[in-house]
Amino acid sequence: MPDDASWTTIGAAVPRIEGRAKVTGQALYASDEPVANPAFAFLVLSTAARGRIRSFDLRAAQAVAGVLDILTYENVGHEADPPAPHGAGEETTTMQTSRIWHDGQIIGVVVAETYEAAREAAYAVGVEYDAEAPSATFDSPGVQEEVREPGEHKDFAVGDADAAFDAAAVRIDARFGTPTQHHNPIELFTTTCTWHDGSLTVYEPSQFVHGLRGSLAKQLRMDPKRIRVVARHVGGAFGSKGIPSARTAWIAVAARRLNRPVKLVATRGQGYTIATYRAETRHHIRLAAGRDGRLLALRHEGWEVTSRPSDYNVSGTETTARMYACPNILTRVNIVHTDRNTPGFMRAPPDVPYMFPLEVAMDELAEALGMDPVELRRVNDTQTDPATGQAFSSRSLMRCFDQAAARFGWADRTPQPRSMRDGDWLLGWGCAAAAYPANIGAGAARVLLGPDGQATVQIAAHDIGNGSHTIIAQTAAERLGLRLEAVTVQLGDSDLPPAGLAAGSSHASGICHAVAHACEDVRARIAVAATTSNAGPFAGRDPATLILAQGRLRGEDGTAEPLHDALARVTGGALEAYAENIPKGLPPDSVGKLYSGQMAISRGTQREDLTTYAFGAQFVEVRVHARTGETRVSRAVGAFAAGRIINPRTAHSQLMGGMIWGISSALHEATEIDTRAARYVNDNIAEYLIPVNADVREVEAIIVPEQDAEVNPLGMKGIGEIGVVGMNAAISNAVYHATGRRIRDLPIRIEDLL
Ligand code: MOS
Repeated sequence: MPDDASWTTIGAAVPRIEGRAKVTGQALYASDEPVANPAFAFLVLSTAARGRIRSFDLRAAQAVAGVLDILTYENVGHEADPPAPHGAGEETTTMQTSRIWHDGQIIGVVVAETYEAAREAAYAVGVEYDAEAPSATFDSPGVQEEVREPGEHKDFAVGDADAAFDAAAVRIDARFGTPTQHHNPIELFTTTCTWHDGSLTVYEPSQFVHGLRGSLAKQLRMDPKRIRVVARHVGGAFGSKGIPSARTAWIAVAARRLNRPVKLVATRGQGYTIATYRAETRHHIRLAAGRDGRLLALRHEGWEVTSRPSDYNVSGTETTARMYACPNILTRVNIVHTDRNTPGFMRAPPDVPYMFPLEVAMDELAEALGMDPVELRRVNDTQTDPATGQAFSSRSLMRCFDQAAARFGWADRTPQPRSMRDGDWLLGWGCAAAAYPANIGAGAARVLLGPDGQATVQIAAHDIGNGSHTIIAQTAAERLGLRLEAVTVQLGDSDLPPAGLAAGSSHASGICHAVAHACEDVRARIAVAATTSNAGPFAGRDPATLILAQGRLRGEDGTAEPLHDALARVTGGALEAYAENIPKGLPPDSVGKLYSGQMAISRGTQREDLTTYAFGAQFVEVRVHARTGETRVSRAVGAFAAGRIINPRTAHSQLMGGMIWGISSALHEATEIDTRAARYVNDNIAEYLIPVNADVREVEAIIVPEQDAEVNPLGMKGIGEIGVVGMNAAISNAVYHATGRRIRDLPIRIEDLL
């Protein structure tokens, strides 16, 4: 039988299998899930940022027609604990006590017959505070700064960076800053809770349904088996839906008190303080090189804002210390406690803020050396992780630079700032490296293969727009020898085998490996039955040589029989297989951890045999108007090498989306803080600037083929985050080339260029 391309699934650029359901409104997002006779909740948030609640006056709120219940610390404080901290230190509390940790903290929940009544009553809740002056951000009075304790993240001290810097011929010493950013997924933060016979079902957009289940079980002091979390489709997350937020338990408590389903759809503004955000950072970078461009010293010190009790930090020095060959490296991260909500991860959490200063400093170094910035990276490229001395499993950084540079036309660049012009527009060309660790999650999957040749794959994966439905189906179709249409994918439900947190670019490889394992179990059982049978074409053969392909069981010599016949030897009905995958670098109890709601991700920065990273290169052209300072990114070309790509179409969308976000990050996004009140002031998508189509011209993402047999068996590195990394620096470097102004604080604004 001739090969037929329609059977080829892993590596095929197939459209999203749930795309039609999404664009026709058939896809159920959490708040769309039908529940009987729901009551509606509206949150009451603190307007003080530090202190205590002295008293409530609920009379006016209770008088609003349709109000059913008002929850505060006074009546429900003992009924739920806060979620566990998502970093070292402690988490802020909400309604457990009268304590106020930050502006916008949940201090009450009003439940009513309608959303409108709940909202009206929530705004009628009277609150008296014993308020103190808050510390809002860096440089505010009363902030507490401390050196981060080594724990989840490492610092590096290789050689003597200070002495090497002092002795070097060419030196860069500069300070940088990045702003607060909020994820702003289009789907708001929603929670719907229903109770039935003491069991709780939660519909909530989540990047980790088992994590949310495990957290709720602890918070509500329940058996996790009595909790189910469902998130079939998620309308954007970017990290904001990965960590359990305090709201969920309170909505569960409200539903239990009322003995009725309760639905919360928090407003966009409330999302700024009831979920996490990307904290503002500062950096001090010192780079030194010889006249040949070889780095002699790298010193990177970072400062990150967090809440008063939490030690959460992202510590991107774990990446910057590994970028370039350098004999003397020193890194350090400081955390700065403020009266703010606790930050969390946001797309490429460590690398977006930390690669910005390194890659701008590299551009400054190239200029000081009189070298081309691409050549400076080439001189300092390495296949050995300079921070640990162990090898990279693969590293295609310069192939990415070379392919992107060629496509971009970099050879035509004249290096002097302000040397390229188009009428009133100053042209600037800049580049920067991208990198992201190749992480992979543990996971489990169940596969059911029926006699009709239809398969169902069950795995509590998450499709946050990243294409999980599609790549799960592709993996199963390939391994079971089925057409894509013959595979049904069930995900986003904590009743299914756990797939871990959809974050850290760890999900695609985590879920594909688990699904491949379950499919291998199906194949092996069918093959063993075929070879141990006394009759049939495969009797007596080695089962390892048989594959499922194109609806058949096939031998190496081309002998084949229909899948239906081969399956019938195993079962008259459906064959079910369950398998777990524990990637290298994780302990054997990792899937058990997932079942109890803990994370289990093997990190590319933490393996002890190899360092595993994906690399990329970003090139951009900016046009800066010579009179007005208006800045446009007119072209962007990125090239990325991330191992095996399961679906080039969804991968391309991820990479392009990341690059567009990079334009946004460099030129548009910042959450503004009123430092007197420690309050976010542009907490809406009218004033929190994000790019529109007119801001995005040509964006091209090149996938550089890369084979890596060491990173994991399928050779996948993950592409969810690397597309955004490096864009901040590439754009800042291009703006420098256009204007001669070096912008080291983001975002780059017109007033910086006038
Ligand atoms: Mo993403 S910040 O890893 O959810």
